[in-house]
Amino acid sequence: MNITGVIEEVRAQVKEWKRRGLSVGLVPTMGYLHEGHKSLIDRAAAENDRVVVSDFVNPIQFGVNEDLSTYPRDIEADKKLCQAAGADLIFHPKPEEMYAADFSTYVEMQKVSEGLCGKSRPTHFRGVCTVVCKLFHIVTPDRAYFGQKDAQQLAVIRRMVRDLDMDIQIVGCPIIREEDGLAKSSRNTYLSVEERKAALVLSQAVFHGEALMKQGERRADIILGEMREILAAEPLARTDYAEMVDADSIQPLDVAEGRVLVAIAVFIGTTRLIDNFIFEVF
Ligand code: PAF
Repeated sequence: MNITGVIEEVRAQVKEWKRRGLSVGLVPTMGYLHEGHKSLIDRAAAENDRVVVSDFVNPIQFGVNEDLSTYPRDIEADKKLCQAAGADLIFHPKPEEMYAADFSTYVEMQKVSEGLCGKSRPTHFRGVCTVVCKLFHIVTPDRAYFGQKDAQQLAVIRRMVRDLDMDIQIVGCPIIREEDGLAKSSRNTYLSVEERKAALVLSQAVFHGEALMKQGERRADIILGEMREILAAEPLARTDYAEMVDADSIQPLDVAEGRVLVAIAVFIGTTRLIDNFIFEVF
């Protein structure tokens, strides 16, 4: 396995692979890799001849008061995990390699990026779309892998790929959870022991909402009301949103219909965590 921070080196390697007729999978990450990322790399390795993992804390997807400077980083541990999962190349650029001092071109999306996380993080998806578009141009993968935990991000990327005619298959992969239910996230490392316990309300709320839908409940106000009650009962938790939306358009639903996304974002202390489930009603 190789690691490089240089765009031209990635291009040269991928060109050489493609000349030999090999397929390429890309797993875009911000590093500090955990089992969730590993499941994406494993899947990419199973479905492609070669796998590139990008490991880049993308500054332009963080808002001014967000955690860019404290976002956890550990490239040595990332290398080990990538190697074990069967990656062939890690792309680990410096911010200057990705963004020229006079960088001035962004990918902006309407609607799909505006609700849920887009409401409290208004420039986030512009940063995500821009960096993912750049990574797609650099790596030119056949397939790219994203976790379902970031459900809105997945919907946004799918829309970008469709709208801008990118010839890349987007593969969404299931949420990976800790044994007690907490969805794996690099941000879980911010939690104190107390907060780690309190963070369980997210998965509890999600599992409860899902159980209600399995029992046949379809009304958003009932499902979200009960989920919000669970979240409100935890003193260390402050709900940012709990919403039911169409999983592709991210537009709100009063009654579940089609592919439904029920998503929550909750502050545990100062750490903002997200979780969700998808439910199909046909
Ligand atoms: O999901 C993430 O880690 C990031 O948003 C991504 C897709 C790697 C873009 O920086």
